[in-house]
Amino acid sequence: MKTVAFVTQKGGTGKSSLAVSMAVAAQERGLKVYVIDLDPQGTAKSWYERREAPSPEVATIETPQLPAALATLARQGYDLALIDTAGVDSPATTAAMQAADLCLIPARPSIADIEATRPTVRTLSRLGRPFSFVLNQCPPGRTIRTSDAFRVLNLAGAVAGTAMAMRADHLDSMAMGLGVTERDPTGKAASEMRELLQWVTTRLEGKTNGQEETRVA
Ligand SMILES: Nc1ncnc2c1ncn2[C@@H]1O[C@H](COP(=O)(O)OP(=O)(O)O)[C@@H](O)[C@H]1O
Ligand SMILES: [Mg+2]
Repeated sequence: MKTVAFVTQKGGTGKSSLAVSMAVAAQERGLKVYVIDLDPQGTAKSWYERREAPSPEVATIETPQLPAALATLARQGYDLALIDTAGVDSPATTAAMQAADLCLIPARPSIADIEATRPTVRTLSRLGRPFSFVLNQCPPGRTIRTSDAFRVLNLAGAVAGTAMAMRADHLDSMAMGLGVTERDPTGKAASEMRELLQWVTTRLEGKTNGQEETRVA
């Protein structure tokens, strides 16, 4: 089983939205997926409560239970565990970083979000944990703002090859307990999410160093 944690000390960057939509997209690819919500705000858990389908399952747990919970999921045959965390530095976030095979740091293409990644990157570097940035809520299309943000982040680490655009499907699917790939399977948000999942899967398999050019739909 592989574990991916969504971390960054800033709210509103898209940790919870990307986590639940990635869980759905991975499930659609035939993976057995579980989402662990370590954020006391419980955004992912609330999404699951609104969701009609029973999977991918989302549960909140206490931080000390994380290693045992992941071991249980692995024994139960899960392929992927996604951990959503709060936008603050906390023991829960550190535990998620330590448990994850890959940490994803969502950032909007704004100076505030890029600066906010720095303490997270410092902690991850100190812990020696692999991470990648994911540009999220980008203006649709190819824009200087997105490519500049990509270049700046790329100085500090790998950036996911797909930049996620600002799209209403993310807001709607959060409200409806759906993933963006369910909300509109042929939509742009859906295809970006599938590409992001593919990038993450490839990186988890160690087949990319994440240095390739970003692609903006
Ligand atoms: N790519 C996107 N396009 C449009 N809205 C988005 C996108 N990603 C996230 N959002 C919205 O931005 C807000 C913050 O996202 P959320 O996932 O809750 O961030 P975090 O978990 O990092 O605090 C939510 O209202 C969410 O629906
Ligand atoms: Mg959140």
